Amino acid sequence: SAFSPEVAVSAPPLQNDVFLRALARQPTEYTPVWLMRQAGRYLPEYNATRARAGSFMGLATNPDYATEVTLQPLARFPLDAAILFSDILTVPDAMGLGLDFAAGEGPRFAHPVRDEAAVAALAVPDMARLRYVFDAVAQIRHELAGRVPLIGFSGSPWTLACYMVEGAGSADYRLIKTMMYRRPDLLHRILAVNADAVAQYLNAQIRAGAQAGMIFDSWGGVLADGLFQQFSLAYTRRVLQGLLREHDGRPVPVIVFTKGGGQWLDDIAASGCDAVGVDWTVDLAAARERVGGRVALQGNLDPMTLFGGEACIRAEAARTLDRFGAGPGHVFNLGHGISQFTPPEAVAVLVEAVHDHSRRQRRA
Ligand code: CP3
Repeated sequence: SAFSPEVAVSAPPLQNDVFLRALARQPTEYTPVWLMRQAGRYLPEYNATRARAGSFMGLATNPDYATEVTLQPLARFPLDAAILFSDILTVPDAMGLGLDFAAGEGPRFAHPVRDEAAVAALAVPDMARLRYVFDAVAQIRHELAGRVPLIGFSGSPWTLACYMVEGAGSADYRLIKTMMYRRPDLLHRILAVNADAVAQYLNAQIRAGAQAGMIFDSWGGVLADGLFQQFSLAYTRRVLQGLLREHDGRPVPVIVFTKGGGQWLDDIAASGCDAVGVDWTVDLAAARERVGGRVALQGNLDPMTLFGGEACIRAEAARTLDRFGAGPGHVFNLGHGISQFTPPEAVAVLVEAVHDHSRRQRRA
């Protein structure tokens, strides 16, 4: 369709498919690694491009800049996947909520969704308003030239709703939880719109060339047991049911990451995803025992390990790999996004340690 650029049929073959094979739980010669927020402020070259772009949204809405910063971490480190440079909040922005990233303050919406009228007015946005994202995906695929696969992503319906109702990040989720307990009907309507918007958004990324998808349920873990399943996972499942699971004759695996979701691993693994992302509170040996026959696992080093020095990084990377074991189905990652204060040299050590230790594991 008009808004959805398609990657050239003659896309070059993938030179490194270790990430996709691990997601399919097929044997790999080493454990693939990429890092959540791998393109970002810990890299001086990112800060330089952002300064040229003038603002975060200036960066994200310009496909040339988005491509440039997506490729920056790959130029430094032998990562096994690229992730689209964008943000989860592009979707509510396209719904007309007025996204702004005030310097040093995090995201803010000019028009949060807090009352019956605002909820009634909410609708799935015209994907043409997000064309800059799909153009960036196509351009990144082109410039990657098959080096590694490209991951597309979206927020989960619940995590997007957190920002849409709170109007910004929140320490206690008071406003959205007040809506959940007093007017669950309003919240269900927001979540239904979000689920349909997210499915369309991810499908357009897949058509533009994203070779895997990830759903960030960053704030699912703030929900009570029972309510997580009702207000977060049910709508993530609705997204998964609406997704293209194959494109250009190849499967498109989808990862669901719920920060703080360790106790719901079985429920998440049964949602229809191909892989579950887990944070550092989860023991990968126990997790693999619980769900390893059904899904791959992604994670789960504490991002603050990167401040522990070389010996610590190597030891913790090895411990994480050893907890999972040598078998197939592990994608190494952090348990949440990398800190902006991380020394880039620490990332070089981590990526090398993951590749080296996981090769040794397979020879043992
Ligand atoms: O992983 C990557 O390298 C791809 C890029 C990416 C960004 N945001 C870039 C970004 C991804 C995958 C995201 C997802 C995202 N955005 C999430 C889910 C993942 C998570 O961390 O839980 C969430 C909750 C957001 C919302 C968001 N965007 C916040 C809260 C902030 C400000 C706080 C912060 O960490 O900076 C952003 C801004 C943002 N998104 C930055 C980057 C690199 C920093 C903005 C800047 O350059 O000033």
